[in-house]
Amino acid sequence: MFAVALFCIACAAYWAWRQKNRKVTEPPFFPGGWPIVGHAPALIGDSCKLWDAVNDLARQSYDIGGVVSAAIGPRTVYIVTDPDDSFTIANSCLEKDGFYDFAKPWLGEGLVTGKYSIWKNHRKLLNPAFSQILLDTFMGVFNSQSRKLVKDMEKEIGKGLFDHWTYTRHNALETICLTALGVDFTDSNLNSKYVEAAELIFNTIVERFTKFWWHSPYTFAWSNVKKKQDACLEILHNMSNTASWVHVLQKRKSEFNGNICAARSIIPGSKFKPFMDLLLDLSVEKGVFNDREIREHVDTMIVGGHDTSANVLMFTMILLGSHPEAQEKAFAEVREVLGDGDRDVEKADLSKLVYLEAVLKESMRVFTIVPVLARKLDKDVKLKNYTLSAGRTCFLFVFGLHKHPMWGPDVNEFKPERWIEPGKLPDNPNAFAAFSVGRRQCIGKAYALMSMKTTLAHVVRHYKIKADHTKVRLKLDVMLKPDAGHCISIERR
Ligand code: HEM
Repeated sequence: MFAVALFCIACAAYWAWRQKNRKVTEPPFFPGGWPIVGHAPALIGDSCKLWDAVNDLARQSYDIGGVVSAAIGPRTVYIVTDPDDSFTIANSCLEKDGFYDFAKPWLGEGLVTGKYSIWKNHRKLLNPAFSQILLDTFMGVFNSQSRKLVKDMEKEIGKGLFDHWTYTRHNALETICLTALGVDFTDSNLNSKYVEAAELIFNTIVERFTKFWWHSPYTFAWSNVKKKQDACLEILHNMSNTASWVHVLQKRKSEFNGNICAARSIIPGSKFKPFMDLLLDLSVEKGVFNDREIREHVDTMIVGGHDTSANVLMFTMILLGSHPEAQEKAFAEVREVLGDGDRDVEKADLSKLVYLEAVLKESMRVFTIVPVLARKLDKDVKLKNYTLSAGRTCFLFVFGLHKHPMWGPDVNEFKPERWIEPGKLPDNPNAFAAFSVGRRQCIGKAYALMSMKTTLAHVVRHYKIKADHTKVRLKLDVMLKPDAGHCISIERR
């Protein structure tokens, strides 16, 4: 008992000393922190409560100047909602924060979670797999997958509310496999298992985050969350041993070995190869990636490439279903560009689907599916009004940028027109960061926009959607997701 009391007194003294010795140039602390635990109690709870808490933090941060300090247990962290300061940090500190290590048992040193020293070489090597010339060759798959989604959803016509998210997730998983990996992953059982395991593992990552005493790997090792996480990893790894990535990898590698021409030469004579072929090429020919690295990159690409687009499409359908005028405008544009028939969306059509792009961007602003990014400050960073100290964690609240008062009094409304009508967007080019900003921004941005636009064009052309976005209950599960109230209904056009 005495030891516990002594420990608490020592922590409280350390807290008081830390508060007193803060540099004057550091941003102010949020009000309401406690000795020892800081602001951590606000984070404790489920992922819905976490979303409410970070929203509160964002709202308060605007009043304090867009940059504030907070304490999670013994750690001081910064929270940034100012667009210019976010840009400065995203560009000057490319190291991901230690919180990303929570996902490393799964994604290792893949691009999202990888250490800067590894990332900088790997990103350079993998960039060509996302060149425009290569993405253009995916239009056939984007169209056939969109048609498949429309067909799959057909059974829900006229039946009232249904969970369209299941459809977008399964479809997007197949699409990323068919395009980037050159693998057919339409086995619905395996597909479902993967989607479930990925969802569960995200839960465990967030649960660990909200309980600061499990941040250390030593305490975490004893937690029940670690047991849950291991169970998810076992499912993901078991799949690897049966029909999924490692199996696929080995099969592709054996096809590939000694026969470099086996790489899909989608563009004859071109150096651009799809993602998996590029990985294998670099591994077999140049000895760059080992099997573990290939798997980590593949796992990263699958999760980065399907959960994101699937969630944006899910939210976009809800928003269109809640805003009939916007939906009719989108439909009118699709008919104008594609005509009355049912032809494929072609590459040249994409730039003409201006309203559809505005719908997608506005949807990503209103529901920012990657709402928070975290960087490790590897040096002091000078911002407009403050200097952040090296060694600390900096949370970039992307959703906070998207809900910043600079968007105007209608900031909380869904208004695709703001992306089209002159003078309606904020002057600041850093106000929108759905794909992150700077050198470590999303590698799949162009891929995502092309595939989502194609899908939306097909869906809008076939269905009239009804939904109520005010009923959606949100949660922060690494990504922004609906907890309830997200279902839609559809009628044939
Ligand atoms: C609407 C869809 C998408 C959104 C909103 C999105 C958003 C983002 C964001 C915010 C990041 C930065 C993450 C961080 O710093 O922690 C990111 C990184 C990344 N995204 Fe996306 N993404 C989307 C689609 C895709 C697609 C389709 C792919 C793959 C085909 C992809 C692959 C990646 C990868 C590999 C990274 C890590 C990049 C790096 O650090 O070099 N994403 N994405």
